Amino acid sequence: MPLLNAASRMQPEIAAWRQALHMRPELLFDVHETAKFVAGKLKEFGCDEVATGIGRTGIVGLIRGRHGEGPVIGMRADMDALPIVEATGLAYASQIPGRMHACGHDGHTAMLLGAARHLAETRNFKGAVAVIFQPAEEGGGGGLEMVADGMMERFAISQVFGLHNEPGLPVGRFAIRTGAFLAAYDEITIAIKGRGGHAAMPHQTIDPIFIGAQIISALQGIVARNTDPIESLVVSITKFHAGDAMNVIPPAAELGGTVRTLSRELRESAEIRIRETVENVARALGGEASLSYVRKYPVTVNTEKETGLAIAAAREVMGAHCIETDAKPIMGAEDFAFMLEKRPGTMIFLGNGDTAYVHNPEYDFNDEAIPVGVSYWVRLAETVLKP
Ligand code: NI
Repeated sequence: MPLLNAASRMQPEIAAWRQALHMRPELLFDVHETAKFVAGKLKEFGCDEVATGIGRTGIVGLIRGRHGEGPVIGMRADMDALPIVEATGLAYASQIPGRMHACGHDGHTAMLLGAARHLAETRNFKGAVAVIFQPAEEGGGGGLEMVADGMMERFAISQVFGLHNEPGLPVGRFAIRTGAFLAAYDEITIAIKGRGGHAAMPHQTIDPIFIGAQIISALQGIVARNTDPIESLVVSITKFHAGDAMNVIPPAAELGGTVRTLSRELRESAEIRIRETVENVARALGGEASLSYVRKYPVTVNTEKETGLAIAAAREVMGAHCIETDAKPIMGAEDFAFMLEKRPGTMIFLGNGDTAYVHNPEYDFNDEAIPVGVSYWVRLAETVLKP
């Protein structure tokens, strides 16, 4: 069960692109250098169309097959980095302080470029492949912006495919599942109003810190007591801001955090219960609290048919024993979910080996995974668009 010879041959060059991108990480929509590099390569490879500025700084390259009419499939990579101080000590470590490719988007971009080059040379498929390079995956909603910019309609994309590296999964292995694979990601901010005063006379105050503490406990009650234990809900309060002095009870406090769910229904009901809990706990203790609930990314839902096609392509490359086809969902989120809301498709995980986990200052994309990822993309195009 072969890796593509061309992918193994191109590995050093693709690794060099990857490391060059790694040295110059860019954030959110501000990926101008990266996008310029990507567009330049796609033109050099002879793509039939290279469109820039989609969803602000996104790029789409169109490659038509040589076997006539057929559908257009989208294959997507992400280009942005994270605001993290790199601690890998690598020769090609970030040259920009406070920014780092700590999620492997440098590797995703380089692998999809490698696949684009091979597909543009061989064109052994019908219809066309749209290679999609999106900005702002890390919380900026770049996928949504590209969709809102009319990308699907403009290129007549009928199915979409995404790939993310996964530390802990050995190199050469894939993991995927049909249905909900990654969680919906929402952000909550809770503003608590009490009445400040002398810390030695708490009875004359309404202590917003005490109210905040009770709200945090009560929110975990939604997870433990209101949610079907077979379903998944995460409520993590990650910020608690209040007070400036040792002997003063402040008048207000603010909590912030994130909510993760794996189903649309639970996402709805969790928001309602969180609001009721926040408002009523504060009221019971004599204060007031209000909730701002911001829906960020939807659930990443893999459709059955496209997941089957992805499994078939991965099997071609590494053999059936290397694919976990019923992988456990994870409560992390993916901006690719916005593309999956518009078109059927699937997201697959590619083993990154025994490295630090993503978003860790010690993390690095594993260049040994490059031939696997490139072969997967090429086989996927040839499988879905078989003449
Ligand atoms: Ni990522």
